[in-house]
Amino acid sequence: MQVTIARSVPTTANVVGYPVGEQGTVPRQLGLDRATLAAAGFEGKVGQTLSVPRRDGATVIAVGVGDPAKLNAAALRDAAAALGRATGKHARVVTTLADLDTVRAEVAGRAVAEGLLLSRYRYGALKKETPGADLEEVTLVVGAGRAKGVTAGAERGRVVAGAAQLARDLANTPPGHLTARRLAEIAIEVAASSGLEVDVFDEAALAELECGGLLGVNAGSEEPARMVRLRYRPRGRRSGGRLAMVGKGVMYDSGGISLKPTDPMHAAMKMDMSGAAAVLSAMSTLSALGCRSEVIGYLMCTDNMPSGSAMKLGDVLHIHGGTTVEVHNTDAEGRLVLADGLVLATEQEPDAIVDIATLTGACLIALGPAMAGVLGNDQVWVEQVLAASAQTDEQVWQLPLEQKRYRKLLDSDVADVKNVGGPYGGAITAAVFLSEFVGDVPWAHLDIAGPMKVDSDDGWRSKGATGFGTRLLIDLAMDFRPPRAGA
Ligand code: BES
Ligand code: MN
Ligand code: ZN
Repeated sequence: MQVTIARSVPTTANVVGYPVGEQGTVPRQLGLDRATLAAAGFEGKVGQTLSVPRRDGATVIAVGVGDPAKLNAAALRDAAAALGRATGKHARVVTTLADLDTVRAEVAGRAVAEGLLLSRYRYGALKKETPGADLEEVTLVVGAGRAKGVTAGAERGRVVAGAAQLARDLANTPPGHLTARRLAEIAIEVAASSGLEVDVFDEAALAELECGGLLGVNAGSEEPARMVRLRYRPRGRRSGGRLAMVGKGVMYDSGGISLKPTDPMHAAMKMDMSGAAAVLSAMSTLSALGCRSEVIGYLMCTDNMPSGSAMKLGDVLHIHGGTTVEVHNTDAEGRLVLADGLVLATEQEPDAIVDIATLTGACLIALGPAMAGVLGNDQVWVEQVLAASAQTDEQVWQLPLEQKRYRKLLDSDVADVKNVGGPYGGAITAAVFLSEFVGDVPWAHLDIAGPMKVDSDDGWRSKGATGFGTRLLIDLAMDFRPPRAGA
């Protein structure tokens, strides 16, 4: 995929998008006035497009960009996604960025590239034929004054969208095809091609490290667990601090002995490694984007299966570092694998930790499928997550990390803590559980159970796994400031 910047629409272009607001002038190249567009049902709203075939065989497309006063990156990304879908049969797409000058050139270039690329994503690996064309070339037509900014933004958008596509591919891959071992191999390949250090911990290494959470969840599986540690080191002396990321990599979540009942939703449990996919994919861009902070990533990979060797209710696991956990529900497995990862992350003495996990159905019920929950122990750090969320339009809503009333729900008679906290407030009790393992390091937890997938195309999200969190984590790393700097 290539992004080209041009000063004028190439004469060879087959299909050209023209942004049209809900008010203001209509680009004359469309050859139609506003009344005619409106009569055809096109009002200029974000998400709307109208294809107009021309006598010379080319197609011009009116692309709604909404209220000109509200134009921003999110609107442009979704508008570009609509253009991407309207041109689904074309490998080359041209669009002008005329009259979008209220959005910074770089931000606009990035949003448009992301929208076009993300909307054209399809998971075709296992099909004889996939409908539509692969997007080969995007040409953005901009005036001289904005060419430099748009070029830089579009390049970043291309890299970032590529990472989100990788996360989608991984999450869409069936669980029999993508085992923990296979994901570790892929991580090695990705690390080699993106300048990351990588270490894979197999079952013996995990036993040596006493990662009882990851190994406990893995106990029922034929497939061994893997932990992958990735490290990005910025070139040059000046470091912008050290950030650790921990991703839940449950390759398939059957619930274990607490078997999930039959439900179409459970075919989606192949995506229970979406957090690990987001960490790997996000980290794959850091070298290309010149991130100034050191980033360490942990992918906690296993499936969660019932069998004669599976962990049982009442079993006590020893998390790395010694905390004991009594298992009251084997379906609350994500927090068990994350616990090991969080403790290992704290041992790296990072300035902050973020974890990302398809952790609770409760978060999906609380916030719906469009946004993730975020909870944390340091508001300055949570604000950085919220800022990255706003920039990327990967929507996140903060929930309270209420220790006082909720921690006692996790009290165990035999161990330090129990892995479930009763029927209510499940997203919160899960986070309270995780907070036991981060010491006093600034930490934020992203629960992406809701937005990990969409049931139909929606803006930049294409049907299936969304890659949610990948773009957010990239911005979080790129803009990282140690939350307790100078404290
Ligand atoms: N992977 C699931 C959470 C999930 C649910 C993700 C729906 C995506 C969509 C997680 O491991 C799980 O099973 N959580 C349980 C926790 C409960 C047993 C405390 C849940 O949410 O029901
Ligand atoms: Mn589960
Ligand atoms: Zn799970």
